[in-house]
Amino acid sequence: MPDQLIVCKSCGFSVDEEKRAGETGGAHLLKLLEVLYAQWPRNDELNLETTGCLCICEKPCAIAYVGTGKPTYLFADLDATTCAADLLTAAELYLDSKDGMVSAYTLPKELQSRRIARIPPAT
Ligand code: FES
Repeated sequence: MPDQLIVCKSCGFSVDEEKRAGETGGAHLLKLLEVLYAQWPRNDELNLETTGCLCICEKPCAIAYVGTGKPTYLFADLDATTCAADLLTAAELYLDSKDGMVSAYTLPKELQSRRIARIPPAT
């Protein structure tokens, strides 16, 4: 099963701003990601998925990387308007790591402080 990038569609742009022009921050991020993903050379290796909530609602926007036999990474407090390209760059690091371990310092600079959890894979 391919690795996944899961986007919370319900997150706001910030805690104080749920929607702009009727669109949530998560939906906006997903729209930007879908455009980049369609042209991304590795889109056959990673599925772009969505969910209604990642239970980190107080820090929108939130996404997760999930892979079989790999840790799950949760990112939050993302800027929905600027982070899409960085998320695909981070996805490449995740794909390239056999065990899913990705050092924070190798992430795009804007994402380094946004990674808030690493959950070990099931054994
Ligand atoms: S609404 Fe996005 S994490 Fe809950």
